[in-house]
Amino acid sequence: MKKTIKDVNIDNKTLIIRCDFNVPIKDGKILDDNRIVMSLKTINYALDHNCKIVLLSHLGRIKSEDDKKNNSLYIVSKRLEELLNKKVEFIDETRGDVLTNSVKNMKEKNIILVQNTRYEDYPDKLESGCDDKLGRYWASLGDIFINDAFGTCHRKHASNVGISKYIPSAVGFLVEKELYELSNTLSNPKRPYVVIMGGAKVNDKIKVIDKLIKKCDYLLVGGGIANTFLKSMGYDLKKSIYDDTSLDYCKNLLEEYKDKIILPVDGYSSTEYKDNLEVKYSMLNEVPENCMVLDIGPLSIELFSKYIKDAKTVFYNGPVGVSEFKNFEYGTKNLLELLNKSNADVIIGGGDSAAAAIRFGYKDKFKHISTGGGASLELIEGKKLPAIEAIDDK
Ligand code: 3PG
Repeated sequence: MKKTIKDVNIDNKTLIIRCDFNVPIKDGKILDDNRIVMSLKTINYALDHNCKIVLLSHLGRIKSEDDKKNNSLYIVSKRLEELLNKKVEFIDETRGDVLTNSVKNMKEKNIILVQNTRYEDYPDKLESGCDDKLGRYWASLGDIFINDAFGTCHRKHASNVGISKYIPSAVGFLVEKELYELSNTLSNPKRPYVVIMGGAKVNDKIKVIDKLIKKCDYLLVGGGIANTFLKSMGYDLKKSIYDDTSLDYCKNLLEEYKDKIILPVDGYSSTEYKDNLEVKYSMLNEVPENCMVLDIGPLSIELFSKYIKDAKTVFYNGPVGVSEFKNFEYGTKNLLELLNKSNADVIIGGGDSAAAAIRFGYKDKFKHISTGGGASLELIEGKKLPAIEAIDDK
């Protein structure tokens, strides 16, 4: 068992808390603050124990100077201030004198949010390459490390695994709850057990299917993952996204598990990845010229409903269409409605599917809504999460 924040004496200490504030932001507005809200329990507990609190998080993926401009955590510091009703000092650097001195000058119950840890990924991938010097530097800022970023626990980064090497560590309340809910329900699921997969990170997610398929009874697929399966069957999906490195892998999976993998049959498409263009409906073997499929259609929902109706456990990871676009929310919205009506234990896993569930009014309707997408998938696939493994044992 890993230590939790309650197992360590944090009174008056400087805590480095790794959060996952990787929230969707559009036009300078946070579209869904669930991950920030879910981190409050640990932060408030640290405040009650008179800690100095240094918060770390990534936001997006940083591959250029422009990515940096578009992924500053400043906006998150402002939302945190509102939620905590308390000053949060934002430090616009990830290391250096300003950060080091600001931490040195902190008083009890002060909170600092450090700029996006992935600024360290450009140009040298120091954060996601788990650079030892960087992890040691961040560790030097505090007495104890608390990992409360469940969504990032499948990553071996300097800001989680790297820091844990150098100071005592424990998990926060959010991570503790995620591990409990996910393992309790999904390590020995009531059957039939249905997994539904969609979402944008196709390449990341597709890799877990060969393990996951052995654990569930049916796998229902949408989004770019479904496109990759359909493409491997020879469908001409025109401009739709798919992972061209996984076609053989998908073909083999379909050969071995053809009765378990359930693919959509119809969908809505448009000529570009935009919400304001003409929407076309078609069967997926007849996608209109110059179009990309951006959602599943009513026949696919009807097909999926046959499996969901009898399910006793459902794990749903990733929207089945571009659910943040009004024109392409149909599939995800209707799927959530089916899940809400079903008698199964339903777990929603993933930043985007959690955001969709909350946006469409299902915040308290399911057994658990996980803040982690890739992390929850890897956990239920049976993998050890590196950032959990790195935490001190009880
Ligand atoms: C997520 O949104 O799933 C986590 O924040 C991890 O983000 P990543 O896939 O960019 O590492």
